[in-house]
Amino acid sequence: MSDSVRILGISGSLRKGSFNTAALHAAQELAPHGVTIEFAEIGDLPLYNDDDRLQAFPEAVRRLEKQIRAADAVLFATPEYNYSISGVLKNALDWVSRLDQQPLAGKAAGIIGASGGILGTARAQYHLRQIGVFLDLRFMNRPEVMIGAAQDRFDSNGKLTDAKTRELLAKFVAALRDWALAHRR
Ligand code: FNR
Repeated sequence: MSDSVRILGISGSLRKGSFNTAALHAAQELAPHGVTIEFAEIGDLPLYNDDDRLQAFPEAVRRLEKQIRAADAVLFATPEYNYSISGVLKNALDWVSRLDQQPLAGKAAGIIGASGGILGTARAQYHLRQIGVFLDLRFMNRPEVMIGAAQDRFDSNGKLTDAKTRELLAKFVAALRDWALAHRR
C-alpha cells in the first residue's frame, strides 16, 4: 500500500482574504513529501433543506461526497463565528451527514483555525469536535493549531509569515499524515 496521503482541506470561510483559507494554503506549502492537500468548495452548496434531500442530493453535495471519499483525511480550517463554527461549514456538514453510508464516518480528520482574537478559534474548534462525535469523525487530538492575532501572522498576500506558527503547522500536517495512515481502511 502506498504511503502517499491525500488530504481534503475544507475552509469554513468564503471570503477571499480569509485567514483560514490562507492557513490551508500554508499547510499545503508545508506538507511533507507524499502528502497532497486539495481544496473543497462549499460556497455553492444550497442551504440545507430536507425536502431537497428527499428528491435528490444537489450536484455540489455529490461533488463534496466524492472528494471526501477519495481523501485519506479531512483538514478543517474553521473560523470562529459567535463562539462556534461558521454557518457555511455547518451547512456542508449537515448535507454530508445525510448521505447514505455517511462518508465522514470513520474518516481521519484534523482541525486548524485562525482568528483575530487571542484564543485562535479554540471555542469553535471544540464545537467542531462535538459535531464530529455524531458524525463519527476520527479527529486527531494533538498538536492543536489555534492561530490567534491572525492579522499579525499573515502578510497582506495571505502568506503565513510567523516562524513559530509555520513550524507548528508543519508538525501538524506531518502528524495528520501519520494519523491518516493509521486509520486507512
Ligand atoms: C467573528 N469573529 C470572531 N472572532 C472570534 O475570535 N470569536 C468570535 O466569536 C467571533 N465571532 C465572529 C462572528 C462573525 C459573524 C464574524 C464575521 C466574525 C472574527 C473572526 O474571527 C474574523 O473575522 C476572522 O478573520 C474570520 O475568519 P476568516 O474569514 O479570516 O477565515
